[in-house]
Amino acid sequence: MRRSQQERRTPARRAEAGNEPSGGTPEELRDGLSMAPDLMLELARKAAELAVGRIKGLPDEGAWDGEFRQILAEQLMENPPEDGQPAAAVMERAAREILPLALRLDHPRSFGFIPSSATWPGVLADFMAAAYNINQCTWLVASGPSQLELVVIEWLRRWMGYPESAGGLLTSGGSAASLDALLAAREAAGNPDRATVYMSDQSHSALRRAAMIIGVRPECVRAVPSDSHSRLDMNALMDLVADDRATGFNPIAIAANAGASSTGAIDPLEAMADYCEAESIWMHVDAAYGGFAIVTARGKALLRGIERADSIGLDAHKWFFQPYEAGALMVKDGSTLENAFAVHHDILQDTVWGANHPNFSDRGLQLSRSARALKIWMSVQTFGMAAFRKAVSNGMELADRAGEYVERSAVLELVHPVSLGVVCFRVNPANTDLDENSLGEINKKVLVRSFWEDRAFMSSTMVQSVFSLRLCILNHTSTWDDVRQTLEVTEAFGQEALADP
Ligand SMILES: Cc1ncc(COP(=O)(O)O)c(C=O)c1O
Repeated sequence: MRRSQQERRTPARRAEAGNEPSGGTPEELRDGLSMAPDLMLELARKAAELAVGRIKGLPDEGAWDGEFRQILAEQLMENPPEDGQPAAAVMERAAREILPLALRLDHPRSFGFIPSSATWPGVLADFMAAAYNINQCTWLVASGPSQLELVVIEWLRRWMGYPESAGGLLTSGGSAASLDALLAAREAAGNPDRATVYMSDQSHSALRRAAMIIGVRPECVRAVPSDSHSRLDMNALMDLVADDRATGFNPIAIAANAGASSTGAIDPLEAMADYCEAESIWMHVDAAYGGFAIVTARGKALLRGIERADSIGLDAHKWFFQPYEAGALMVKDGSTLENAFAVHHDILQDTVWGANHPNFSDRGLQLSRSARALKIWMSVQTFGMAAFRKAVSNGMELADRAGEYVERSAVLELVHPVSLGVVCFRVNPANTDLDENSLGEINKKVLVRSFWEDRAFMSSTMVQSVFSLRLCILNHTSTWDDVRQTLEVTEAFGQEALADP
């Protein structure tokens, strides 16, 4: 825990909170599992007040808070109570003891890993979808939400530049999209023995895991070396595929990054598409991080070639400002998903409405599904695409400015060209002659200090074996002041670490 928040979670405070009378009496709650409508409204208002209060207070808080397990177990590990308590007190306890102990990914100075700042209509859409109790599995069970998913898939199709034959589904996230994509690829390849999958050494672990889940042996997931810009090396890829084919392996998929999470690097999509077409190998693009850049003119140019891929994985809970979980898988030929996933089950025979009434459960791994399209649709309907384009551009523009700042800095050094919204840099003044090891130690010190002492949150990565600090600038709430202050603090910590290595 970064600050002295111990006090707010003492058992005494908890008991006191439990005795608070707001939010209905236990008697009201003990009417089976139902609540009176007035109480439901009061509690919903309370939930909204807690959430909005948190969002308003974010800039004055640190971007991270957490606690060790032993302390949390003492507070939270208890038998489920036999009798209920006032719901408002339970909510307050969650808002006091549990929910704040997390990385505040939507903090304006949250730059670590891949942050995320959900739009409020997106949050409300999740609330409404849960409250309307939608199971977005089949057309019969949820025709309205199914049509809405078709609408959102159609938006994605247009943004990606896919043909009308394309299709897709919304998933929990990029991991599930990778899994569904590789299964579709395997089936399209005829489910061969000795299957191999190719991806760059920069690819996300989710893709490697997806390959393993569909039955590709870990040693048959080929990590293709990347070049000095962290882009997959085409010659190395071609050599690996040729060697594998010559020795009886069967390539089923090649995965490209469209923004690698570490550096934001975009693989050579056009060249990979040419090669995949020539070799008849399924091309998947992992665009979980960078894919939504395509709604801007600049992103569209950067991602040229993505429209030639057989499948594209996207995460709207990243650069499209939705609450978790909001991923998507798009396939160029819509039938490839149903070919891979549709399985007849007698209990579901009534759900077959025939042509043009898709059951989304036939397109991926989930039967019961939440109505994810609602949040994307409600957010876009509310704000309009111009606002989304501006917010996505903001990330790239701030990353450019951060890169320029680093290049002008006497203390900092750019470790990798800025790509999309990712800035990899480190403390390394031009006039020092420290070896790599010492520089690594100094930068680790700076990262640790920024973690404990600064309100911002950044993370680190390795860029060609060099320890690098890393900003991923994505949140629609982040401003240049947020980025500049974070860089200034890094410079100051860097200077102090250099003075006292
Ligand atoms: C490039 C990339 N691919 C895949 C994933 C996994 O996505 P998810 O966490 O939504 O499952 C991530 C997550 O950060 C990512 O950045």
